[in-house]
Amino acid sequence: MTTPKLSSSQIRSDFLEFFRGKGHTIVPSAPLVPGNDPTLLFTNSGMVQFKDVFLGAEKRSYVRAADVQRCLRAGGKHNDLDSVGYTARHHTFFEMLGNWSFGDYFKKDAIAWAWELLTEVWKLPKERLLVTVYHTDDEAYELWNKMVGIPAERIVRIGDNKGAPYASDNFWQMADTGPCGPCTEIFYDHGEHIAGGPPGSPDEDGDRFIEIWNLVFMQFDRQPDGMLVPLPAPCVDTGMGMERLAAILQHVHTNYEIDLFQALIAKASELTGTADLENKSLRVIADHIRACSFLIVDGVLPSNEGRGYVLRRIIRRALRHGWMLGVRQPFFHKMVPTLVALMGEAYPELPAAQDLVERALKAEEERFAETLDSGMRIFDDVAARAKEVIPGADAFRLYDTYGFPVDLTADIARERGLSVDMQGFDAAMEQQRETARAAGKFSAGSGLPAELVAKLKPTEFLGYEALDAGGLVVVALLKEGRPVDSLGAGDEAVVILDRTPFYAESGGQVGDTGVLAEQGVKFEVDDTLKYAGQFHGHVGRVAVGSLKVGDHVLGSVDAPRRAATILNHSATHLLHAALRELLGTHVQQKGSLVAPDRLRFDFSHFQPVNAAELAEIERRVNAEIRANHAAEVHNMGMQEALDFGAMALFGEKYGEHVRVLKMGSYSTELCGGTHVGRTGDIGLFKIVSEGGVSSGVRRIEAVTGQGALDLVSAEEQRLQEAAALLGGSAGEVVDKVRQLTERQKKLERELEGLKAKAASGATADLAGSAVEIEGVRVLAARLEGFDAKALREAMDRLKQQLGDAVIVLAGTAQGKASLVAGVNGSATGRVKAGELLAHIASLTGGKGGGRPDLAQGGGEDGPALASALADVPAWVAQRIRP
Ligand code: SER
Repeated sequence: MTTPKLSSSQIRSDFLEFFRGKGHTIVPSAPLVPGNDPTLLFTNSGMVQFKDVFLGAEKRSYVRAADVQRCLRAGGKHNDLDSVGYTARHHTFFEMLGNWSFGDYFKKDAIAWAWELLTEVWKLPKERLLVTVYHTDDEAYELWNKMVGIPAERIVRIGDNKGAPYASDNFWQMADTGPCGPCTEIFYDHGEHIAGGPPGSPDEDGDRFIEIWNLVFMQFDRQPDGMLVPLPAPCVDTGMGMERLAAILQHVHTNYEIDLFQALIAKASELTGTADLENKSLRVIADHIRACSFLIVDGVLPSNEGRGYVLRRIIRRALRHGWMLGVRQPFFHKMVPTLVALMGEAYPELPAAQDLVERALKAEEERFAETLDSGMRIFDDVAARAKEVIPGADAFRLYDTYGFPVDLTADIARERGLSVDMQGFDAAMEQQRETARAAGKFSAGSGLPAELVAKLKPTEFLGYEALDAGGLVVVALLKEGRPVDSLGAGDEAVVILDRTPFYAESGGQVGDTGVLAEQGVKFEVDDTLKYAGQFHGHVGRVAVGSLKVGDHVLGSVDAPRRAATILNHSATHLLHAALRELLGTHVQQKGSLVAPDRLRFDFSHFQPVNAAELAEIERRVNAEIRANHAAEVHNMGMQEALDFGAMALFGEKYGEHVRVLKMGSYSTELCGGTHVGRTGDIGLFKIVSEGGVSSGVRRIEAVTGQGALDLVSAEEQRLQEAAALLGGSAGEVVDKVRQLTERQKKLERELEGLKAKAASGATADLAGSAVEIEGVRVLAARLEGFDAKALREAMDRLKQQLGDAVIVLAGTAQGKASLVAGVNGSATGRVKAGELLAHIASLTGGKGGGRPDLAQGGGEDGPALASALADVPAWVAQRIRP
């Protein structure tokens, strides 16, 4: 029986077709960034998108599914980044073929079908296959042994070999919490000529016995305290590494020899000019381009934190390998077209984002190019000094100044047989954080004593409809952070009411200001902050009278200030939508400030937004303002809101019930803030500035309404002033300025010419004052205002004019002297310019030196200089008189 030779795309489609035939629904690959799952950095296996289905929290229209899932194991619980390039089978990015049962079939079918596909469809020789089972899973053992007929010596029971109960190679879990269960794994024996032992043996890590398929019998939901709670129904989750399987079905021994990687390695070899296709760095580049491209496809951009930093680390690791191959120009992004040709059909989202992927990679390459070279030099110095360990402080300097992620430094160190002091690195990092924290501002809206949190009901917010409200009950007062029963005049305090029209700072929108009052009492509110996520704290001072818990007050928000703020808030939503529409959906909100006088919006984007793009964004936002859409507010459940198409902010926590703000069909976003009635209320939107905040994050500042008009008037005013100065109308300003700069350039050229003429005139006069000593003409002169360059030019002219000569010139300005000494013609050899200059410099408190025919230096201007210059003929005479 011969195993067929199959391409990667044939393998993907065989797999899906096989399970379609067994009643499975074919599901597309989910993105690498898991939706709504804070427990996980990346999709690290096929089951991630089905997690809630296993847990019973989500229902699908099918109970059997199969797919080819893109996965990433870099950063987080499953991290293979450090092994890539060093082994035959580790990848950051890989593809997982999987089939699932959600409370439908279980161990028997899962095992029977896996065996059928491997041995009957793909005709793998049975004698090359081994299996492992969890040590107590007799059911799986029996199925393999009796139903399938695998002899006992090729079934290995694996116990808790990872140091804790249920911590085993045969007990699979997605993360520290969540669905988990015992598993059975199928191994392929690549043959005796490859080093390595069977699973469970001491040399199991060799490349001979390779795990190809893992069948997990999901039965529990692991809790944070380690407890295993049974799932509503037992499920099946299988995962087969496509690349490993392809190695077998293409009759090669390592994943890097399969069709996909061969094509990527060939491209990398061409781009880096590396002929040796076995070079480890080519493998690293071929692996990393897949991870990096798909991360960008899935909305991640290089940055200094979280997922963005993992991406940055992988890109920089690839670039360093390119650097080792001698590449000094951006090359990595040029791998993308090859990748698209190889994988675009299986993953249509890749070609759709090709342009973005190339641009984002190129931008990161250009950024790292600025420091990679010098960083490598620093590393060499440090490595030369280090005995075995690179000190943490040096690793930190490489990180902080040269952008070397610490695992990159560790990687380079490892190649040279060194390690990195990680503790020292962490300590240096922590120290920097401390310094930054200490420099940061202390925030007032922090704590609320626990007894109050337990006792009080959340503040009811009335401010969506009203700006004034009476009968508000004072439920708590805080003075210097502590609860008090009453406040007297002049007290600085925080007032908490049962209900309030005051908006508390959140979602970027600033807190309201205004007044709380009752008969004979006035509390001025400077800010409103949210305490413990649910209480509006009115921060301010008692201006008149006294206030106690239980009092009723009238609350009045500063209405013009709030009115100006809401224009900026609604405009922020329109801006967000316009950015995503024009620049792409990788744009995500990274921060926002909505104040009465301006808005500030930070978002992910990999390069500056240029002037034409900014103008277009402004144009689109203003068009939506003029369309005068009603700003509709809908209250609904979270899932309903997402189905409704509302944009939720990544990584933001939302409650079960959310508020959705919809402006026409242009913008639909989850938001708890306060907004305009119609977009036309915003009036006008003007961008004030665009700039970078950190790498991968841009910031736009803008103004609206009266603020935008004020900006336009102020600019008009400046234009009028400029026009008046130029003696023309505003319309003529550009022409007038152009004429003026041209004229200025012309004048500068004329001035340069005149200066040169004057200088040569001055030196011509000088030549006449040289004295002759033994046939050598000696000249020493002070030239007011000559800089070093003018001095050298004068020296050249004088040498020509005087022939056999010794010349010293001192150019003076602001109490300093630049010195130059020259020796020419037959005087050369008899007098040394360097000695002469050193002599004069030493007399004038300076220093200098140079060649026998030309030397330069500097000293102080003053009487000492005058007498030193006067003595030059005598100094020369001493040396050349016989
Ligand atoms: N979740 C299991 C794994 O990743 C099987 O899909 O190995």
